Amino acid sequence: MDIKGLIRTIPDYPKPGIMFRDVTSLWGDARGFRRVVDELVQPYAGTRIDKVAGIESRGFVIGGAVAHQLSIGFVPVRKKGKLPWKTLAEDYALEYGHDTLEMHVDSVKPGEQVLIVDDLIATGGTVEAAIKLVRRMEGVVVGCAFIVDLPDLGGRKRIEALDVPVFALASYE
Ligand code: PRP
Ligand code: ADE
Ligand code: MG
Repeated sequence: MDIKGLIRTIPDYPKPGIMFRDVTSLWGDARGFRRVVDELVQPYAGTRIDKVAGIESRGFVIGGAVAHQLSIGFVPVRKKGKLPWKTLAEDYALEYGHDTLEMHVDSVKPGEQVLIVDDLIATGGTVEAAIKLVRRMEGVVVGCAFIVDLPDLGGRKRIEALDVPVFALASYE
């Protein structure tokens, strides 16, 4: 199946010069959605994974489906101020300014093996913040899985330098 063919590209969104890779068109296709979930779990066959951590908001959709497929729990990595219980927070850089991600302090237990899932990796700043949060809880990040990688933005190399394997289904140079 042509996964890239199901991902819509929108030029100049949200700003001039950005080619926006829109996975909602893929998720709206029943066979496409099933296929990306099946393919995202495949590299982890034989690896113990205790939890999926999905990053708000697009990572909730694909991360939730991956957790269900693996029959394991899902924990949310949310933007600041959204989680009701005690949280840990990590700032991360955006193209302009910065934002904060949070997790519940007890969402990962020491020694638990965590797969982080998001729709897309660009600079890697978002997923790096999620890795830091899991590690502060003494969780072990066994990998990060994405539908889309934008390698020119350097995210994969940045995350591999943290000793976390990166897996992505589609790459756009
Ligand atoms: C997008 C995308 C990733 C992140 C990747 O999320 O869904 O989470 O950017 O960028 P990075 O690798 O440079 O950090 P966004 O913050 O736009 O929010 P959304 O998921 O809520 O749409
Ligand atoms: N997040 C960061 N860069 C993006 C892009 N080009 N398309 C979709 N989401 C993104
Ligand atoms: Mg996102």
